[in-house]
Parts: sequence; structure tokens; C-alpha cells
Amino acid sequence: MDIRVEKAMAETYPCELLLLFSFEPPLPLEGVLASLDQEWKGWISGILKEGDFKGERFECKLFHTQGLFPARRILLTGLGKKEEFSLERWREASSKAGQFIRDSGLKRFAFHITKLENYSEEVLAEAFIIGLRLGTYQFKELKTQELEKIKEIEEGILLGRNDEEVLAIQKGCHLGEIISKAVYMARDLVNRPSSQVTPTFLAEKAREIAQTYGMEIEVLDMSQAEALGMGAFVGVARGSQEPCKFIILEYNKGKGFETIALVGKGITFDSGGISLKPSEGMEKMKGDMSGAAAVLGTLQAASELQLPLHLVGLIPATENLPSGRALKPGDVLKTLSGQTVEVISTDAEGRLILSDALTYSLRYQPRAIIDLATLTGAIVIALGDYVIGLFGNDETLLQRVEKASQQSGEKVWRMPLWEEYFDYIKSDVADFKNVGTRAAGAIIGAIFLSKFVGKTPWVHLDIAGPAFIEKEKPLLPKGGSGAGVRLLIQMLRNWSYS
Ligand code: BES
Ligand code: ZN
Ligand code: ZN
Repeated sequence: MDIRVEKAMAETYPCELLLLFSFEPPLPLEGVLASLDQEWKGWISGILKEGDFKGERFECKLFHTQGLFPARRILLTGLGKKEEFSLERWREASSKAGQFIRDSGLKRFAFHITKLENYSEEVLAEAFIIGLRLGTYQFKELKTQELEKIKEIEEGILLGRNDEEVLAIQKGCHLGEIISKAVYMARDLVNRPSSQVTPTFLAEKAREIAQTYGMEIEVLDMSQAEALGMGAFVGVARGSQEPCKFIILEYNKGKGFETIALVGKGITFDSGGISLKPSEGMEKMKGDMSGAAAVLGTLQAASELQLPLHLVGLIPATENLPSGRALKPGDVLKTLSGQTVEVISTDAEGRLILSDALTYSLRYQPRAIIDLATLTGAIVIALGDYVIGLFGNDETLLQRVEKASQQSGEKVWRMPLWEEYFDYIKSDVADFKNVGTRAAGAIIGAIFLSKFVGKTPWVHLDIAGPAFIEKEKPLLPKGGSGAGVRLLIQMLRNWSYS
């Protein structure tokens, strides 16, 4: 779908479909609807008086203008009650409208963005694009049949009345496109099978991003990781025939900018290893590199936005498979930090590979470390698939994430990191073990990670719930969601301009 911005009036713009939004109830008319109604001699209020459209949240109704007006059809989309309005509601309604247009088989639409409540055209345009793009995402590259049934919108035209509006809409559009593109990339990486998205593939993708967007990249292989002392990462990687990669992607706007480390879990397939997972649902474990995908997406967007920051993306990438050389329960690993870990379950591999990546991040003396990982099933039990579990050791940093969450619409919920739980991972033979109790599983996973960041401000985002969607949501079609990308980009944008 191409999006372009034009200076024109909705009232007189000839198009296949004119998209319109309305609160519940739609009468009395406001904004674009009111001026359109005036120009169209009461035609819209006429329809509305019939009661066919109520303005309910996500309601979509198509009306033909029968050649009476330049727009051949109008689509009314409900925003719900005015007092409940938020940017997230707007994104979701934009997504629903996009899906409706696509599924109706229409190829082109026009839409006039004007200020709504307290939001500017620029902010609304950005959110509209994000809603539209995220809602109409389809992963179809592996389909060979019934391709003709896959519908797609070809063109969206955003209208602004004057130069000022056009400029604001263009700006918002540009931002929205950069963010959507980053989310699409992350989704594609998650949706592709693990036979394609291997650690080598992730490294190649990172190289491609580095080249396209002007970043530094270094990729360590197994022998280099081993020589450095990444015993935990290498321990997990040894079970697989696929070469592991430790990816270091660095974006630097220049000297003197604050350093932030972004660490993403890059398990390209998690079978559980010797502590094998049940086979039911195991196919979803191709998505166990969602943290890595989010880090790549975030860095790509940050670079496109030219944020005044120094970002270090760290991705330990490997498969977690059982084999004659695989990690076994009872093995003890020496991590890069020097601390030793007894492996109780080889299925708690995320925290093992992340421990070395977190330690490695300290080399850069970052102002903050943010890790993203599909770390535990327990967080899915606790919070479901709408919410990211948020843990951390620094109140200011936690608040930055929470603020970005409110702005971006990616929900986070704060979880505790009480030291009492550390007792649960004390080991008889090593410094600690990689599993505690089933109860409080997500907290214990986070407590484990906290042992590798020292006093550096750190947050851990357990994205196991929202990373892979089974029941679709307005902005999230089934499958890989790109969880964390919008949240992190928003946080980094705030960071840049504060
Ligand atoms: N990748 C899984 C966590 C996961 C579960 C992600 C469901 C997405 C959906 C992780 O490596 C894992 O297996 N964790 C174990 C930890 C346990 C052995 C302490 C878990 O959650 O069961
Ligand atoms: Zn696992
Ligand atoms: Zn895993």
C-alpha cells in the first residue's frame, strides 16, 4: 500500500472511497463530517438520522453516494464515546477501518486528517499510519495457492486543507512509516520458520541493517565467544548443528551522546533441549527470537530517525536443541561474569544466554540496559498476551518505560524483583541454578538476570505473552507481533528530546 499526502478538500475530492470517523453518538456532527454535510446539503446527517450508524467503537458502515458527490462511497468508522478517546483508540479504529477497506476489496481510499480533541494533525497522522499498517499486516511470502484471495489496499491518500496541514501530516506520516517498517521487519523475522531464520540469518540481517542505515557491526562466532569466556552462551549453543552468533550492532550519532544497551534474546528455536518441551505448540518456539527481532527493529528505526544517542544492540543467537553434545541437567557453566550456574533445566536457556550478553554490555558502561526476552511461560500465565512484564532496578528507568508504554499503547505491567526470591535459585554445587520454583517463575527468571547487571540501571521486558499472538487484536494479526519495537522507539525518542 502506497501512502501519499495531497493538498485538497475532502468535500470536492473525487475518490473511490472517502474514510470518515465519528464519535458515539455521531450527532450533532463535528469537524470534517460537519463541513462535508454542509457542502453535501445535509446528505450525511440524513443518513445518520436513519440510525444505521451509531459511532460505536470499531463500527464500520459503507454508504454509496450514487454519483451525487465526488466521493463514490463513504466509510463511517466509529470511535466510541468521546470521553473515552485516546491515541490508542484512534490507532485501533484506524486499523479496523483499514481491515474493513481491504476485506471489502476496495483498492484506494482518501482520508482527511484534522485535529481531534487535543491531538495535532501530526500526532494523529503518525498514529493513523501505525494503526493502518499494523492492522493490515499479512505474512504471505510462503503461500503459493489462492494468492488471488489475498486482498490488499493499493493506495491511501491523506488530505490536508492547506500547506500547514499538509506539512504536519507529511511529518506524522514519515514517523509512522519508519515505526511501522521496523515492526514489519520484526514480525517477518518471527513469522519465518526457524529453518530460515537461523543465527546466521539473524547475523546477516543485522549486517544488512548496519549497511543500509550506517551502523557498526561485529559478529562473534562460537570460538570467539568461547575465548571470551561466554560459557553460558556457548553451553546452550553446543547442542545445535547451526553455528551460533553473538551479534553486536552499534548506532552512534556522535561523540558525547548517552549510551544505552539493548539486549535481545535470540533463540531461533527453543525445543527445550534435553529438558524437551511437549510437542504440542512447539512450532511457536520459532518465535523465541522475538527479543532479538525487537532490538533489530528498534535500532533500524532509531537510526532512520537519527536519534541523538549511542545505542548498542546485543543479540546472543543460537538454537536450543537436544543432541549428544547438548547441555545436560546438572552441568555447571562458568558465565562471562565469572559466576557459575548449575543447569537444572536446559529449557531455561534464555537466562543463560542473556547472562553473558548482559555482562558483555557492561563494557560499554551504558547509562541503561534494556533487555527483551520471551523468557518465561509464567509471565503468560500472570499477564496474558496483552501485556509485557516489566522488571527493573532503577525507578527512573522504569518510569521512562511506563511513560513510553502509555504513549505507544504497548502495555507493560510492573512486576517485583524482591531479593527474597533469590534464595530460590541458590545452588548446592555452584553460585546459583537456572531454575527456582514453578511459582513466581517470571520473577525468578528476572532475579537471575539481575545478577549480571551489577548496579547499572536495567530493565527486563518479558515479552513471552504479546510476542506471538494466537487470538488477533485490533493492531495485532495472528503470529509474530513485533512486541517491544514501538515501546522502545517511543522511549528512545523521549530520551533524545528530554
Ligand atoms: N522460551 C521459553 C518461554 C516461553 C514460553 C516463551 C511460552 C513463549 C511462550 C523459555 O525458554 C522457557 O522454556 N522457559 C521455561 C522456564 C522454566 C524451565 C523455569 C518456562 O517458562 O517454562
Ligand atoms: Zn526454553
Ligand atoms: Zn526460550
